[in-house]
Amino acid sequence: MADYILAIDQGTTSSRAIVFDRRGRIVASGQKEHEQILPHPGWVEHDAAEIWRNVQEVIGLALTRAHVTRHDIAAIGITNQRETTVVWDRTTGEPVCNAIVWQDTRTQGIVDGLAADGGTDRFKPIVGLPLATYFSGTKIAWILENVDGARARAEAGDLLFGTTDCWVLWNLTGGPDGGVHVTDVTNASRTLFMDLETLQWRDDILEAFDVPRSMMPEIRSSSEVYGAAESSSLLRETPIAGILGDQQAATFGQAAFEAGESKNTYGTGCFLIFNTGTDIVHSGNGLLTTVGYKLGDQPAHYALEGSIAVTGSLVQWLRDQLGIIRTAPEVEDLARRVADNGGVYIVPAFSGLFAPYWRPDARGAIVGLTRYSNRNHLARAALEAVAYQTRDVLDAVNADAGLALTELRVDGGMVANDALMQFQADVLGVEVVRPVVAETTALGAANAAGLAVGFWDGLEDLTANWQEDRRWRPEMAVDERDRLLRQWHKAVTKSMDWVD
Ligand code: G3P
Repeated sequence: MADYILAIDQGTTSSRAIVFDRRGRIVASGQKEHEQILPHPGWVEHDAAEIWRNVQEVIGLALTRAHVTRHDIAAIGITNQRETTVVWDRTTGEPVCNAIVWQDTRTQGIVDGLAADGGTDRFKPIVGLPLATYFSGTKIAWILENVDGARARAEAGDLLFGTTDCWVLWNLTGGPDGGVHVTDVTNASRTLFMDLETLQWRDDILEAFDVPRSMMPEIRSSSEVYGAAESSSLLRETPIAGILGDQQAATFGQAAFEAGESKNTYGTGCFLIFNTGTDIVHSGNGLLTTVGYKLGDQPAHYALEGSIAVTGSLVQWLRDQLGIIRTAPEVEDLARRVADNGGVYIVPAFSGLFAPYWRPDARGAIVGLTRYSNRNHLARAALEAVAYQTRDVLDAVNADAGLALTELRVDGGMVANDALMQFQADVLGVEVVRPVVAETTALGAANAAGLAVGFWDGLEDLTANWQEDRRWRPEMAVDERDRLLRQWHKAVTKSMDWVD
């Protein structure tokens, strides 16, 4: 009898495979980073072939470390960095160019061209998203316009598009030999092409972007059997039964199944998701409307999302570009050496500012520097920026929801940082709750796959598996919090209007 589920988490900086048991606990995992290719300012690329090699490698690592084989795995779930766009040849399996990553801003010209006729909210009532470089649609259009021969090959039906869930699924199920070309509703809802009501591609929007429909994967639910791993794979014949974009997966892994429940994930960026149940709620405050999950034939659950592009990747930037820390965790040591930020604020608008501002013309700013400022203050300002940006998004959620959230479930790598979580609770003025399994992204994909194959009977089993680890209560004086936020907002205004 198969006692485990394997989740593949294809993230922005690394790919991981994690084996979960029936209680939703981690048994073993494998992880491998892939190269971040930065050819020009604002451009961010990945090599999709490297990603697929890494996925295969980490599957092997996780199975070996868990001392299990495919016979012990009931199903596979996939979760992924969303929006990152891969276009490949259906016969050779070769990508036509590097994948364009969600953070990449090269498509601003395409956004401006489309927005000239109807503004950036032109498709928002249908797809829930403003026109922005963030989403897959503009990236596909860029590839078709700029990669030699791509348009002709796409029009001949030779090219396929997918986000990395779809790329991994297609390869895992056989690639050119019968690979399944499918994505799920949560990933499809990040393209700019999916109608939130019908959960199908909109031909008129595909036409507006000049993207042939033949490239697009079939849209399916987040929890059903899509196919089985191909015969040469370590996991051969194992069903692949769950797909969720990583932020929706984290929400599912946090057991935030009902309207009014929410979570915030601290990864490369930060993504706060607020479940609105089966209602499609349009934001008046800079949030995205997105699909939360859909289980088989049941109705879709929707969500409001506040996407912050840069949080954890700011720490990587301190490490890789400035060299003021050697390892990411060192940022905490430096930040702890000072009692406060010394008046320094960092606005990490590396991809413009996402929610709730949506200002593509913003660029990163470090303000408040004096001769007294040192690298400890910069480290502290970087961590504080994570918390302030989350506060801005929480204010938007409260305004849209018409009620004040009283607690926030958190997950992702940075929630191991207790000082940051205390500061987060202080800045939000609400309680912050961390679950025992903070790897909720992979867990959510495992949950969806396990439900589809009857490994778990229903959402009650998943709710029973969720357990609180630690809770932080706001302790900061209100005056102090207000002062910090006032300064932060002043810093945000300094980052805007920077691009000519
Ligand atoms: O929308 C982008 C998001 O899915 C990326 O998540 O965790 O890979 O930074 P992450």
